[in-house]
Amino acid sequence: MVTTLTMDDKTFKSLRDFIYEKSGIYFSDQKKYLMETKILERIKERGFRDFNEYAYFLMYSKDYKEELKYLFNAITINETSFFRNKPQIDAFKNNILPELVNLPDKQTFKTITILSAGCSTGEEPYTLAMVCKEFIDTKAKDWRVMIEAGDLSEAALAQAREGIYNSYTLRNVPPQYLDKYFVKEGDNYRIKDEIKKMVRFYPLNLTDDTQMRRITKKDVIFCRNVMIYFDDAVKKKVVNYFYDILKVSGYLIIGHSESLHNITRAFKIVHFPGALAYKKE
Ligand SMILES: C[S@@+](CC[C@H](N)C(=O)[O-])C[C@H]1O[C@@H](n2cnc3c(N)ncnc32)[C@H](O)[C@@H]1O
Repeated sequence: MVTTLTMDDKTFKSLRDFIYEKSGIYFSDQKKYLMETKILERIKERGFRDFNEYAYFLMYSKDYKEELKYLFNAITINETSFFRNKPQIDAFKNNILPELVNLPDKQTFKTITILSAGCSTGEEPYTLAMVCKEFIDTKAKDWRVMIEAGDLSEAALAQAREGIYNSYTLRNVPPQYLDKYFVKEGDNYRIKDEIKKMVRFYPLNLTDDTQMRRITKKDVIFCRNVMIYFDDAVKKKVVNYFYDILKVSGYLIIGHSESLHNITRAFKIVHFPGALAYKKE
């Protein structure tokens, strides 16, 4: 039974430090209420007496790792949609893909590798998969594309693997894509297997050194609307991993309202109509 519905400041600060250390996600003082709301459900579910007992369990129990998954599910914000920020998707389709398939050193293996980092419920990587499929079928017939997609929230990944979406998240999908790559099921739409099999989903913590160093080289990394939850120190760390993961001539694409100003100077900023991308030269 939960007897204390509010979190005292000391518990808030301990939990905040713990979450920051484990995920890079930082809750400012103003976001205390948000943290409280997000964790309360879980406390009720597990039958902890109050926030303090929950914090103690996370910090000192040897079984905390399993609970960490639920904590990550609770605290992450998984807002996303298909074809989010169209100018970025257009830049990928009209500029980046054509440039990559023309690179001299890619002509032997003819493979493009992509990472969707912080992929949430799958809309971003599936959007990229559809766009790549159209590109390959029409302009680069003997090429293949491999997309990896990772997220901290295993609940979001489970939804991504299921691949069933409502019309709200599909609102910006061009009608011809909807007809071609989805099957209507009641009020929802299921993504077809030909797109599903282009994406490999896996749990990924962008701040975990071991996990990040295991990722193989990529031509393009999308990490949009994820680093907004990090402070500059964590952003720098994550962007350094991205730099190492990218192949030379590869691109990093972050959210349209985000910037790497004061975070890195390692990339060349390339401008496309209505969008920009960070190129590893
Ligand atoms: C707002 S969504 C963005 C989804 C998609 N990239 C987009 O732009 O539509 C942010 C995602 O980042 C994930 N995330 C937050 N911190 C993370 C971390 N340390 N490692 C991996 N994913 C993380 C969250 O779980 C969430 O699904």
